[in-house]
Amino acid sequence: MPEFVKLATLDEIPPGRSKEIEHDGRIYALFNVDGEISAIDGLCPHQGGPLADGPMDGSWVSCPWHGWEFCVRDGKSTLNSKLRQPVFQVKVEGQDIFVALEPTP
Ligand code: FES
Repeated sequence: MPEFVKLATLDEIPPGRSKEIEHDGRIYALFNVDGEISAIDGLCPHQGGPLADGPMDGSWVSCPWHGWEFCVRDGKSTLNSKLRQPVFQVKVEGQDIFVALEPTP
């Protein structure tokens, strides 16, 4: 069972929005797609762009620096089928958003 930590509340991330959160040296990018919260590693694997600041299109986010696209639900990339951004399990309890400290294997 992964260890979870509270990183945000639902009112901080309305539908269609995202938020970058640093915790214990790691950058998490949280997204709200139609009320469903997901979390991926917030640093783009290309050159470290802030994925939480990128424009969203449904379940996809584009890195604001050079446009690499990632699915915010499963971390998949449109560029390369072998490229997958780390994804973190999310639990919502009441208004609180808990995120797993380690990515899903
Ligand atoms: S840093 Fe994200 S696409 Fe270049």
